[in-house]
Amino acid sequence: MPDNSEPVTILAIESSCDDTAAAVCRDGEMLSNLVAGQQVHLKWGGVVPELASRAHMQHMVPVVDTALKEAGIGLPEIDAIAFTRSPGLIGSLLVGAEFAKSLAYALGKPLVAVDHMQAHVLANLIGTPRPTFPFLCLTVSGGHTQIVVCHSPDQLEVIGKTGDDAAGEAFDKTAKILGLPYPGGPLIDRHGKQGNGERFLFPEPQIPGLDFSFSGLKTAILYFIQRETAANPHFVAENLADICASVQHRIVTILLNKLKKAAVQTGIKEVCIAGGVSANSHLRTELTRLGEALGWNTYIPDFSYCTDNAAMIAIAGYYKYLEQDFSPLSVVPSAR
Ligand code: KG4
Ligand code: ZN
Repeated sequence: MPDNSEPVTILAIESSCDDTAAAVCRDGEMLSNLVAGQQVHLKWGGVVPELASRAHMQHMVPVVDTALKEAGIGLPEIDAIAFTRSPGLIGSLLVGAEFAKSLAYALGKPLVAVDHMQAHVLANLIGTPRPTFPFLCLTVSGGHTQIVVCHSPDQLEVIGKTGDDAAGEAFDKTAKILGLPYPGGPLIDRHGKQGNGERFLFPEPQIPGLDFSFSGLKTAILYFIQRETAANPHFVAENLADICASVQHRIVTILLNKLKKAAVQTGIKEVCIAGGVSANSHLRTELTRLGEALGWNTYIPDFSYCTDNAAMIAIAGYYKYLEQDFSPLSVVPSAR
């Protein structure tokens, strides 16, 4: 068992997609949180897995080194190394996993394998105020859209999920239709701030229960843009802010209507959001407004803990450390 009088220091590594990230936390408090993005994908309009793995190889050592220096922590002070085991691009995961395993082996310290989606949810446990268990979390990223009940740090129950595209994909694919670069979510957010979200009405899919679907919305947006552009070739340029605001408004209402349903169904009033799309300003504002109207306690992670980061791997790793939930050095990453 860990000695409770000694602080617990975790070095965490995240490399599931196209960001190389490292963080150091001590007793659950973040001492550093570094992310190196990868510009190499820009001209391809999406993440190229092979290029992502190569960029992770280049960035890993400098990112980890800087995270340790910023935290003022030397390698001998690290109690465990946490890393993202799944899900993600397998070539990207392998780089982070192999680095974490080598370090754990060299230092003789335990290895903690973390699930990326669980870590997104647990980002809500960084800092204060933090939700009390059980809490609801709407996890919205580039690859996932889920509503989970978090009973404890290691007990997450998925009660709703998407059957096709994720919310982040709905943002990114819309951006592509509009001729905006990848990833389009932050750009739709930025343009949408200047627009009228009620100008263009897009359909809300009628999916039973707590599940989502975004593929129909994407098709509706594509046909709408094709129709309007045929009548006026400058339609997108002339109406970009209103289109972005309207798309964003629809995605956010789809998400929050399901979250409302989940809160009624479970009776839980502690409500969080997580994942890259939780950085969306409209979602953040509307969740706060809804929470005030319905008497929820709402929690929204700091921007740096929404998109992919290692702080969330560190906090998940910290709770696993307290449970002595370690992985053997033979552990392998998994894409799913
Ligand atoms: O969690 P994340 O960084 O990576 C995955 O695990 O997928 O999420 C990335 C997704 C992308 O689809 C990106 O467009 C979206 O998050 N995103 C946003 C915003 N910032 C990032 N979507 C809407 N508004 C934003 N401000
Ligand atoms: Zn993510």
